[in-house]
Amino acid sequence: MQSTQVAIIGAGPSGLLLGQLLSRAGIHNVILEQRSDEHVLARVRAGILEQGTVDLLEEAGVADRLHQEGLVHDGIYIAFNGERQHIALSSLTGGRSVTVYGQTEITRDLMAARAAAGLSTHYEAAGVALHDFESGGKPWVSYLRNGKPEVLHCDYIAGCDGFHGVSRHSIAPDAFKTFERTYPFGWLGVLADTPPVAPELVYAQHPRGFALCSMRSRTRSRCYIQCCLTDSLNQWSDELFWAELRMRLDPVSAAALQPAVALEKSIAPLRSFVAEPMRFGRLFLAGDAAHIVPPTGAKGLNLAASDVRYLAQGLIEHYREHSSIALNHYSARALQRVWRAERFSWAMTRLLHSFPDQGSFDHRLQQAELDYLFSSTAAQTSLAENYVGLALDA
Ligand code: APR
Ligand code: PHB
Repeated sequence: MQSTQVAIIGAGPSGLLLGQLLSRAGIHNVILEQRSDEHVLARVRAGILEQGTVDLLEEAGVADRLHQEGLVHDGIYIAFNGERQHIALSSLTGGRSVTVYGQTEITRDLMAARAAAGLSTHYEAAGVALHDFESGGKPWVSYLRNGKPEVLHCDYIAGCDGFHGVSRHSIAPDAFKTFERTYPFGWLGVLADTPPVAPELVYAQHPRGFALCSMRSRTRSRCYIQCCLTDSLNQWSDELFWAELRMRLDPVSAAALQPAVALEKSIAPLRSFVAEPMRFGRLFLAGDAAHIVPPTGAKGLNLAASDVRYLAQGLIEHYREHSSIALNHYSARALQRVWRAERFSWAMTRLLHSFPDQGSFDHRLQQAELDYLFSSTAAQTSLAENYVGLALDA
């Protein structure tokens, strides 16, 4: 039988970052992860970090490689109607920028820091089950390790186990409300060793559908095109993908596109989802376990980081100062930020995609909105301040 102060379910960015912040504050924690460490590191995810996320990674002591290898971007491009408009993120927001650094690399850095500190992560923990978190007593977690039953006693449980995790599903259905929107398309993503088409990200709206040219480095691109939810990967050869992407870009970006062999190719659906509240007795949800945003605004990882920041602050205050004020405010504080990011991610998705059910009136409105964005500094400032991240404590 083991015991810890905080049992963390899930070793994605949320769980690993929370573990790191707590450990640095002297709070004992154990992470239970259902997959292997290799599996966790093989997942390709987005990688646009707000300044607040970079600051938090610094506070966690895991930002050295990020500062060496991350690319600081002061703007993005929006392409529409054969033109691309630069949105000067930094000059519109008093000097704030975003950093391009893959989520996989953050996960790798956090795993290395945890291993170096000799902290416990039980990978391949099967059948994780959460007990007694709403009983008023101390909670505990049961799981199988190498097929043998184990029990972990704790003061608190942090559910950092993603959208499909066990934590949210352990809560009585009448104890929370969910809010959800699904979208009638997906994103087909390709990772390839080819230089980015522009020094900064290009988001494109086109009658054939949305496209995005992102990057992982100056020699590696991550590109996406809107696709049908029914599409399968074997319908999309590399040649077809690059040809379709090229058609959706503005001429300047299209001319710079150099097709290359796909290192990874995947299709992901888009979803907006929020579960409220984010606290249930001694169980706290953080990251994708509590909310999902469509990737158009690049907010998923940044929201996970801000949840973790608030939760770590609450737990540290509780153990150090015996005050539960911040813990009691965790859910409301996190949800305020979540809804702002939900709104922005939904608005970016609506602005830049082709909706199959869109009538001609809606289509004209979308074009008018892009036209307004291209010509109005006020509209660009609004996009920029959301993209770089609204102030954490707002
Ligand atoms: N038991 C233990 N671990 C589990 C369980 C379970 N029953 N279910 C899921 N997990 C693990 C998953 O294997 C995964 O490693 O929880 C982890 C959750 O990680 P993520 O899905 O990456 O979620 P999170 O850490 O909140 O990160 C949010 O990921 O999806 C992106 O856009 C999102 O960038 C954001 C970030
Ligand atoms: C990515 O680099 O994978 C990426 C960038 C920006 C987004 C989504 C994904 O909005």
